[in-house]
Amino acid sequence: MADEWTILHLVIMIRGTGHFRNLVTMSNNYSAENIATMELIYGEGYLSAGGDDEVAAIVDGVDLAGKSILDLGCGLGGASVTLARDHRAGSVTGVDIDSQVLERAAALVRKYDLESQVVLQKIEPGLLPFEKGTFDLVYLTAVTCHLLELRPFLGEVKRVLKAGAVVAGCEWLKLEDNASYRQWDRLLRERGLNFHFVDRHEFVSAFEDSGFEQFSLSDRTGFIHQLSQSAVNRVQGELKAKLTGILGDEGYETCLDWTRTRARAFAEGGIGQGHFRARTPG
Ligand SMILES: C[S@@+](CC[C@H](N)C(=O)[O-])C[C@H]1O[C@@H](n2cnc3c(N)ncnc32)[C@H](O)[C@@H]1O
Repeated sequence: MADEWTILHLVIMIRGTGHFRNLVTMSNNYSAENIATMELIYGEGYLSAGGDDEVAAIVDGVDLAGKSILDLGCGLGGASVTLARDHRAGSVTGVDIDSQVLERAAALVRKYDLESQVVLQKIEPGLLPFEKGTFDLVYLTAVTCHLLELRPFLGEVKRVLKAGAVVAGCEWLKLEDNASYRQWDRLLRERGLNFHFVDRHEFVSAFEDSGFEQFSLSDRTGFIHQLSQSAVNRVQGELKAKLTGILGDEGYETCLDWTRTRARAFAEGGIGQGHFRARTPG
């Protein structure tokens, strides 16, 4: 008998868009200001921490030369660019549900003259618009944290990967439902960003239930905590004038509060991040 995830998947297939897709992905509000602020803090092309070095660490040991990669939830396109330029991927398909970030990603791809290697595409939440077994690697950073349900999404990731291929990425994890975690979670919601952090157990189970094998997760919390602490210092120092120019005085204070709250949630064990990797069977 079909389980509830299969039924949900069928419903999405039948209904395609509209109300039902909200079962899978909540809407988000990466406003122009959110984007500008995050990119200043995280670096050109990124809506998550660590930049090109973090991408290199995530795909370390995977031979990408000539391979076809899906950068799923590519955001501003930083990873798509470095995967094509520095890791010699044959082709990178960067997809996202948000037209605004995709426009920025397109500008980045043009800037580095990578149009022949990197294709960007807007997708709807739900089914991925690719044939079964299309990609050698799915690259996935800070995307599943936006999903209400992991399994239908991971089922799609598995479907579009070739047999024996890898999904690799980095994700936020809920470590403890303590005061610092709840404050960070509340603050994100107040600012229109819907995150649904899950704990390690649920994250691992979702991959296993979706048919992935050889799942591994390595803790990056210490490293990301250091980055987030240094972000607090940069926001108070070298970035203050720029951020005030973009956000105004009140907006700057809000941004500083946001940055401090994130660092505190890492410091006090509320949230963490991990690099993950898993394979499709075969
Ligand atoms: C925190 S950003 C990370 C962007 C990029 N991966 C990075 O690390 O810089 C999350 C991105 O996932 C996108 N996203 C959310 N749900 C998605 C879905 N169901 N399919 C594809 N992209 C999605 C958002 O629009 C946003 O650009």
